[in-house]
Amino acid sequence: MSDMSNGPIPIILDTDGGVDDAMAIIMALNAPQLDLKAITVVAGNIEVEQAAYNVLRVLSIAQPNSPPLVAKGCERPLVRPPFNAAGIHGADGLGELHRFKDAGDTARYPHLPLTPSSQNAIDVLLEAARTYGETLTIITLGPLTNIATAIQRDAETMQRVGQIVTMGGAVTVPGNISAAAEFNFFVDPDAAQVVMESGIPVVLVGLDVAMKAPLPRQAVEDNLRRQPTQVAQFIADCTEIYMAFYRDNEGFHGCYVHDPLAVGIMIDRGLAQTERVHLVVETEGRFTTGMSLADRRDRRDEAGNPPNVEVCLDVDTERFWPMFDELLWQPLGNH
Ligand code: RIB
Ligand code: CA
Repeated sequence: MSDMSNGPIPIILDTDGGVDDAMAIIMALNAPQLDLKAITVVAGNIEVEQAAYNVLRVLSIAQPNSPPLVAKGCERPLVRPPFNAAGIHGADGLGELHRFKDAGDTARYPHLPLTPSSQNAIDVLLEAARTYGETLTIITLGPLTNIATAIQRDAETMQRVGQIVTMGGAVTVPGNISAAAEFNFFVDPDAAQVVMESGIPVVLVGLDVAMKAPLPRQAVEDNLRRQPTQVAQFIADCTEIYMAFYRDNEGFHGCYVHDPLAVGIMIDRGLAQTERVHLVVETEGRFTTGMSLADRRDRRDEAGNPPNVEVCLDVDTERFWPMFDELLWQPLGNH
């Protein structure tokens, strides 16, 4: 469990505004162990403008007592062309919420007259590193473009950050967006490698554990029937397209909760079995771009390639799901 001897842990969520991101944001808002200082937004699942709007939508549903700052960051990867997952998370990145109507044919999710902060995400990240130093954890839920850009702009300041808990990569299992690569690392492999070689402590929450946490559609619908809150309705609505993708492509009607698991492991590191390894991200492969390659050989050269990442290889889902349920479905107000 996180060390809260000094009170809630200052965190920044860096997100690409998708469906599992939305669940992770609500969990972080509800977690008494975490003090969500800001949400920085990056292009990934959807372009950055839409991703920021999606974050504002989530906050309008969750209604935290003190909403965190929302700041837009990088619109495209460091080197590679933009690539998104609109086919998986819906054209708006959040399940195409405009489709849903309430009584009288009124829009359940009307247009939000909200805009993100005028501050840039990179400035917000660097300011937080200066302010909170080693007490700060950055939890990344999308491509690492914002983090890498902050490191390239001021590596010394970013070195002050306590840790980066990153949803990304796949070490002992295949990728998802390609045979070799997980989506966040595939979209911006160059940024991922910048972070891996930065020297900042990294905890990698990859597909090795995310694929062990499938959320069945039935569980979402059962929960909505049990407690028809606005959050429960929102989760049922925004996951509809995402879960249909898994039904039609992965053979089960539900979804993996990649990003919520990163928040869960940040809250309780004991959920995961980890191994410290030297890990690199392929940036030039013809077939393997974005692949996360960990040196797990018995005769590894630790002097030449010291471990740089703590990789999560297994997860105690018996402990995770009660935390997920408590932090996702509980109405806010305890912040
Ligand atoms: O590969 C899964 C990751 O890519 C998740 O963070 C999902 O939201 C997408 O960003
Ligand atoms: Ca994400």
